[in-house]
Amino acid sequence: MLPLVGLILVTALIGYPIARIPASTAFDSVLLVAVHSLALLVGAEDGQLRLQISPSAETLLRTDQFDHVYFSVHDLDGRLVAGDWQLPVPSPAMLSPGEILYNAVVDGEDVRIAAALVHQPEGSAIVQVGETTVKRHRLGQQILTGVLFIEVLLLATVVIVVLLGIGKGLEPLRQLQTEIEARSLRDLRPLPQEYTPVEMQAVVSALNNLLRRLDEAMQSQQQFIANAAHQLRTPLAGLRMQVEYGLQHTDPAEWRRTLQTLGFATERTVHLANQLLTLARAEVGAGQSGALQDLDLGSIVEQIAGNSMPKAIAKDIDLGLELEPATVHGDRFLLGELLSNLVDNAIVYTPAGGSVTVRSKMRESAAVIEVEDSGPGIPREDREKVLGRFYRVTGSPGDGCGLGLAIVQEIAHAHRGSVEIASPPSGQGTLVTVRFPALGKPVVDPLTVEA
Ligand SMILES: Nc1ncnc2c1ncn2[C@@H]1O[C@H](COP(=O)(O)OP(=O)(O)O)[C@@H](O)[C@H]1O
Ligand SMILES: [Mg+2]
Repeated sequence: MLPLVGLILVTALIGYPIARIPASTAFDSVLLVAVHSLALLVGAEDGQLRLQISPSAETLLRTDQFDHVYFSVHDLDGRLVAGDWQLPVPSPAMLSPGEILYNAVVDGEDVRIAAALVHQPEGSAIVQVGETTVKRHRLGQQILTGVLFIEVLLLATVVIVVLLGIGKGLEPLRQLQTEIEARSLRDLRPLPQEYTPVEMQAVVSALNNLLRRLDEAMQSQQQFIANAAHQLRTPLAGLRMQVEYGLQHTDPAEWRRTLQTLGFATERTVHLANQLLTLARAEVGAGQSGALQDLDLGSIVEQIAGNSMPKAIAKDIDLGLELEPATVHGDRFLLGELLSNLVDNAIVYTPAGGSVTVRSKMRESAAVIEVEDSGPGIPREDREKVLGRFYRVTGSPGDGCGLGLAIVQEIAHAHRGSVEIASPPSGQGTLVTVRFPALGKPVVDPLTVEA
């Protein structure tokens, strides 16, 4: 509406001179008729130019409701022959077209004047008729008032139509708003789309898409909590049974055995709790809990491999590192957890006397970590499943809880990376490859990560 009001103001400002044009044109032609009529009355007497006008004709000429009327007849030397001396005299050269119209100030007022040249045998004369501009102003103002009146009427109509139209157009949005506000936190059903205006369809369908993903995420979280509760309850119940068993005995040797078993069981439970917490932290995403920084994968590998060295030595496993510089923008703690899960698996599942190799390198603008071992490998049909939560290949040794590779995958995704399980080129063992975007571009489609 502001532009419309502006338009009306502009019309008011520049409209007056425009409205004056038709007013002037009409009154100018009347003035010219008067000049030509007067010219017919110019004659000669005793060889002198004369204006033969009767007193009644002069009264008629001078009578006007609004304006003061002037007339004059001059000879070519500029001498006044008849009429009003106040009118200026144009030079004969200016009158060469025959007749002219011009503006002048007479007695302090604006006057519009028509002038014409008349030729008689006795000589030529300049005949003029002028009038003040009151009529013209009035007509201009009336035209402008009319135009402005119509414009204001138009503006009022537009305001009413727009207000009604917007109100009606936004009604479905208001319904949508009520619908959303009435929802409980758990109600993630899609929003009704049938009454949504076309312009909002895309937004509502994007919103529904988000609701669907949120619903899926919440369901998988519920599932995870249920699983985690189950997984934690079992070892805790075991701990309690061990304690009760120990208390029933008085033999210190039996206590010692019980305490040893308790020690192992506690360690497992602590490991499980840590894995659950790491997974929860990885799920929140990288960079939420710690500041992201540019990290060299090689240095993280060195640190984690150092921690695992005693276990490798105990199992007579040859733990080797092949490190090339590879930089990742990420969370040091999470990347450490990722590596330690991979290296742990390799050491745990590779039989004594085998070998484990950890590599870091840059490939096709991706920072890559590889953990390769000479163990039994992971059957092709299980490679997808072991990345899921609480999944273990049947008959796997050790007392893991099936969260390690899920953590690896979660952390890789949090860094917009991807995990791949394969067989090493030798055909024997497992090769896990994790790729991270080195220059901030995703290795996997971020949409699939979100889904
Ligand atoms: N390097 C490996 N060699 C052979 N099997 C492996 C290897 N890494 C993982 N697996 C298999 O994948 C399963 C899931 O691993 P993970 O998620 O770390 O859980 P966990 O180690 O607690 O069992 C393991 O139970 C094991 O069967
Ligand atoms: Mg594991």
